[in-house]
Amino acid sequence: MNTEVLSIHNSTLFEHALEKAVALLNLGHVVALPTETVYGLAADALNPTAIQTIYDTKRRPATNPLIVHIASRQMLNDCVGDWPERAEKFARSFWPGPLTLVLPKAACITNGITAGLDSVALRWPGHPFMQAAIRRLGRPVAAPSANLANQLSPTSAEHVLTQLNGRIPLIVDGGASNVGIESTVLDLCGKTPTVLRPGMIHLESLQAVDPETKNQVPLKENELKGSQEPQLSPGLHRKHYAPQARMKLLSWETSSNLESKVAALGAKLEKTCIICHDRIPSPDGFARVSVIPHDPEAYARALYGELFIADREEPDLILVESVPNTPSWHGVQDRLTRASTD
Ligand code: TXA
Ligand code: MG
Repeated sequence: MNTEVLSIHNSTLFEHALEKAVALLNLGHVVALPTETVYGLAADALNPTAIQTIYDTKRRPATNPLIVHIASRQMLNDCVGDWPERAEKFARSFWPGPLTLVLPKAACITNGITAGLDSVALRWPGHPFMQAAIRRLGRPVAAPSANLANQLSPTSAEHVLTQLNGRIPLIVDGGASNVGIESTVLDLCGKTPTVLRPGMIHLESLQAVDPETKNQVPLKENELKGSQEPQLSPGLHRKHYAPQARMKLLSWETSSNLESKVAALGAKLEKTCIICHDRIPSPDGFARVSVIPHDPEAYARALYGELFIADREEPDLILVESVPNTPSWHGVQDRLTRASTD
């Protein structure tokens, strides 16, 4: 299959890409579309064959449910079985945006989307192209991140092309994703709102809307292995969002301290890529040293891009400097921890 890449940086191009994307979605194809978090692999949520194509294209386990994207009140009402008052509060505060709400599902949401769960994960995305595509299609759009299962989520059209070239007919190039990591997933099915996947809308912001909101207790390692249960969050997958190269997350004091840590990990300096934000070593001797700004929003925006670039060097090791353990860094820290799990 030939994969076409269409830009949208003026209104003529936007309209052309929109027509093409919606025509393909109507025919049951999957296409990669930009969102503000990461690129999505989109399909008509009400077409079960198209949903199956998402799983096949990504090589995604059938136990991992999909997010359904909506762009109107009507679509929202059609997708949920219940819309509690607290859902309304979260939606008013953070939609359109990088927050996914898990709610009881309506009958039109099939088991193919939810991996057999009674709930559906819903997001009203902020990206103008994604919104336009959903509205023009007139139906909700299921979209996981547009990467192969367990690999890095794409934050540019080029990242999508690297993983899915020849597997999908169209990538819409909306430039670099503004948020840079996947949405916060908040479960509203239980007594207490529970964060299943941290993201850039962090716990303190959610607690400002509903003080009862809490983080999911992390699962123990022995609970994570070999589960055939539907996955309520990527928490069931320790290794996730990972580059191809071995990756480690740690801190260091001086350049010589860093060098001895590289040696202790059995890697050569010239085959090691460093990603840092605070203690910046001299680039001499390393395969690459990347500096990401010490600010959670800017860091999240740059992270996957830097990991893609580092991976391209085919290093023995990608060494990432630890990030602060504060709520605004939790989304970033979660992705780094998963990516660096052996
Ligand atoms: O930012 C994002 O959320 C991106 C863009 C494309 O919207 N999408 C994304 O999709 O990251 P994906 O498939 O890579 O992650 C979906 C997450 C998974 O962790 C899945 O377990 C969880 O949402 N999820 C989906 N349905 C669920 C449900 N009914 N209950 C609990 N978790 C659910
Ligand atoms: Mg994903």
